[in-house]
Amino acid sequence: MTIVVKHTATSVVTIERFIIEEERNHPEATGELSGILYDLALAAKMIANKVRSAGLADILGATENENVHGEVQQRLDVLANEIIIKAMDHGGRLCAMASEEEPGIIQIPDEFKCGKYCLMFDPLDGSSNIDVNVPVGTIFSVVRKITRGRHGELEDMLQPGRRQVAAGYVIYGSSTMMVYTTGQGVHGFTLDPSIGEFLLSHPNLRIPENGRYLSVNDSYEQLWDDSVKSIMRKYKGLDGDRRALSTRYVGSLVADFHRNLLGGGIFAYPSNKKTPKGKLRLLYEANPLSFIVEQAGGAASNGHQRILDVEPSELHQRTPLYIGSRSEVEIAQRAIAGQPELAVV
Ligand code: AHG
Ligand code: MN
Ligand code: MN
Repeated sequence: MTIVVKHTATSVVTIERFIIEEERNHPEATGELSGILYDLALAAKMIANKVRSAGLADILGATENENVHGEVQQRLDVLANEIIIKAMDHGGRLCAMASEEEPGIIQIPDEFKCGKYCLMFDPLDGSSNIDVNVPVGTIFSVVRKITRGRHGELEDMLQPGRRQVAAGYVIYGSSTMMVYTTGQGVHGFTLDPSIGEFLLSHPNLRIPENGRYLSVNDSYEQLWDDSVKSIMRKYKGLDGDRRALSTRYVGSLVADFHRNLLGGGIFAYPSNKKTPKGKLRLLYEANPLSFIVEQAGGAASNGHQRILDVEPSELHQRTPLYIGSRSEVEIAQRAIAGQPELAVV
């Protein structure tokens, strides 16, 4: 008989206890996925500690290096990347990792046991905001290994987002929160720094049906095609057939996504003449947040199809992204692809 514990926001439940209780809903569970989530919560606390004191510990600013995307790496990008790799590489649950900050897949060192999962992550999202004290985040995605052999391979990473077994993000904002799903709803935990524990604060998160916010970088307007321009006019109520959404754009995907998840709305990073394939990365930005938003009753599309159905071909491939309240995403899908509904399997 599975124990289904219903928590409310007033129950004092640590993330570790919540993970164990969720695991009990899966009698076949081996505890490996739970172990990955524990270790990610630990890495999140360590990164939060660095982000919070970055201005004092002389770890702000850029390095002299560029990552595989040609973006200058911030020192906190590199630090967060190292923290996650060191926290995750020896637990024996992963067979490989992939990071926004690493060109290829990250193998598990021979001295450590390999497990049956792959972890893909954006160690620090919104890097351009670090030095100006605007919220940044971490995003992660977990899939099962599908290839034979001990070590993970590229093919294990290149699975469509609907194959994820867990996804989540951490937002280093006015408080540090970790939000994740394993396919049993979306749950938010707030770090209590006085005891160093993530405590359940947002059980069973659902995105509001109707949007309040529009998050888009309008500076690209001249680079959008006409269908994108028509979508933005609609979101802004300029066609007179609906109320205008309030524009809120932080420039950190995690911060914009989190506000819209709680308040309702749409985040849009359309393709444009400068980035025809979009800017955001499919495997460790769009896929994990799309798994979360669908689990919370929302939707995510590249304008033509459901993000979670996109078949990846490259580790760092980019995608246009419309993500948030279902009705808002369907407006974009209709305008771009002429499809009224978002197919969800
Ligand atoms: P990252 O810092 O991991 O490279 O991600 C930055 C992304 C995302 O966080 C944000 O939504 C987007 O870049 C902002 O892009 P623009 O500055 O072009 O609007
Ligand atoms: Mn990012
Ligand atoms: Mn990043």
